[in-house]
Amino acid sequence: MPDPGPGKFLSHGYQGAVYLRGTGADLRVVKQPMGGPLARRLRGAMLRREHAAYQRIAGIQGIPRCFGLQDDGSLMLEYLPGEAYRETVPALKERERFFQLLQRQIIALHVAGVAHADLKRRGNLLISPDGDPIVLDFGSAVLHKPGGGWWNRFLFRQACRMDFNAWIKLKYRRRFDLVSPEDQRYYRPTAVEGIARVVRRTWRKLTARRFRKAWRLRRKQRRDA
Ligand SMILES: Nc1ncnc2c1ncn2[C@@H]1O[C@H](COP(=O)(O)OP(=O)(O)O)[C@@H](O)[C@H]1O
Ligand SMILES: [Mg+2]
Repeated sequence: MPDPGPGKFLSHGYQGAVYLRGTGADLRVVKQPMGGPLARRLRGAMLRREHAAYQRIAGIQGIPRCFGLQDDGSLMLEYLPGEAYRETVPALKERERFFQLLQRQIIALHVAGVAHADLKRRGNLLISPDGDPIVLDFGSAVLHKPGGGWWNRFLFRQACRMDFNAWIKLKYRRRFDLVSPEDQRYYRPTAVEGIARVVRRTWRKLTARRFRKAWRLRRKQRRDA
């Protein structure tokens, strides 16, 4: 049989290339580890972790089915059609319902011992044609190991908090002052998120200053010309 080739290219992300292969009901997403030897090894490890996560969460609504790892380390998934989550997407007609379903998904993941830990990233959350949430990309997931030590329990709890923080951030579009009293308990920024925020703000300020400087210089040059 001739090699079917990698298929239609979907995206290039942290874990390598993502392809669409097959047709109709056999449409599959293939996540392939790429890059040099070291990158390929790291990405392969992430895909193995992703595979382990998918094995625990099979059957949860809005999560693709997983068809296992291939010999070359690629991960095969069910293709779920959807639109990338954006705050203003027209597909998000019923916001309340969408976020209720997403909350249920997050709780179901945590009960299964899987914390996603990267829900804030655009592209990991899709909106199905029915307006339901689709959660993808478990490459950064934290798995709760039964009988695992305090460090695993700590990491898992932190990642669970990050999932709910992401949920609040998306639901309230970063307007944390509008969070309802019953949702308040879901917003508990972790130390890691706090540090990331400080780094992000400082970086923004620095780049803004550089931009202002360049703009002033250009204005002066134009005046002098
Ligand atoms: N099962 C899937 N069904 C539909 N689209 C998918 C699926 N898996 C991945 N994609 C598409 O590919 C993109 C990248 O996939 P993702 O799993 O996030 O890979 P990466 O680890 O490279 O970020 C997603 O944003 C989505 O558009
Ligand atoms: Mg991703």
